[in-house]
Amino acid sequence: MMTPSLRNYWHPVGRIEDIGTGPVGTTLLDQKLVVYHDGDRYVALRDLCSHRGTRLSLGTVTAGGEIRCPYHGWTYESGGRCVYIPAQPKDHQRIPSAAVVPSYRVEERYGLVWVALDDPIAPIPAYPEFDAAEMRTILAGHWTWAASAGRFLENNIDTAHLPIVHPGLLGDLDHTEVEAPQLRATEHELYYAASRRETEQAHYDEPGALITRETWVVLPFSWRMRISTSRGTMALFTVAQPISDRSCSHWLYCSRDYRLAPPDDLAYDAEIREVNAVILEQDRVMVESQEPEALPLDLTEEVHLRVADAACLEYRRRLKRLAGTAYA
Ligand code: FES
Ligand SMILES: [Fe+2]
Repeated sequence: MMTPSLRNYWHPVGRIEDIGTGPVGTTLLDQKLVVYHDGDRYVALRDLCSHRGTRLSLGTVTAGGEIRCPYHGWTYESGGRCVYIPAQPKDHQRIPSAAVVPSYRVEERYGLVWVALDDPIAPIPAYPEFDAAEMRTILAGHWTWAASAGRFLENNIDTAHLPIVHPGLLGDLDHTEVEAPQLRATEHELYYAASRRETEQAHYDEPGALITRETWVVLPFSWRMRISTSRGTMALFTVAQPISDRSCSHWLYCSRDYRLAPPDDLAYDAEIREVNAVILEQDRVMVESQEPEALPLDLTEEVHLRVADAACLEYRRRLKRLAGTAYA
């Protein structure tokens, strides 16, 4: 069988709330896309008019849910076929058969619009807490980094950096050793569990409380963690849009099944956002500095630790097998 590529997976391209009816231009795996709502569903087309290569995302969505190029007004239906050319008589349209732009599969899930450029070989990653009635879910943040999605995602798996880069928040400098993770893996997923004591600047629990964390990494670029604390369960879900091998966008959601008395509940949401903004900024400086920008899937390219880097190594091995080498 041919090695699949990242084109064979679902990737998020934006939040429904941000895209609205569109059109908006975005880039996925170096492919420029125009995304818009045709009144019935979201549509993703190549962002390039077949006439003179103008960006369709500069155009408008018609009342009938078609997209009209801003330059000469060629109008395309959701499947990408040109259906109207203003320069020709209305009652005698002669539409060239090549007046077509490629269209891609689109799904809506977790408030995000997802696109697969080629036949997807895996479902959209599971985030069951998003739809669970007992959970309160917020968007904790959205960032665009000058880093590959592979480097970004691996940073979520990498536990050795936590006490060094995030002392007081996700670890402390007196406890830097990494224990061997008990890894379980299925084809597209890695799972491991670990516990740690909450730090002084606690944000998930009281300082000193034991926090158990279960992590699911679903390839290529999603990560979910369930945190059990004395207050209840929190789930974090992050997923990246691979824009190119040097750029990605990523969203972080937070779901929890416990409430605080108002107005503390809203204050707690704000605290989650603030703490994660600090953590992600600390990470950004590290990850944007990494070279080579694409995650090296040839394991001889960087030096690894068998125990401390075990989960990262497994991630790289799987990514290579399931998605080839481009854009990781
Ligand atoms: S370039 Fe789009 S209509 Fe001419
Ligand atoms: Fe980090």
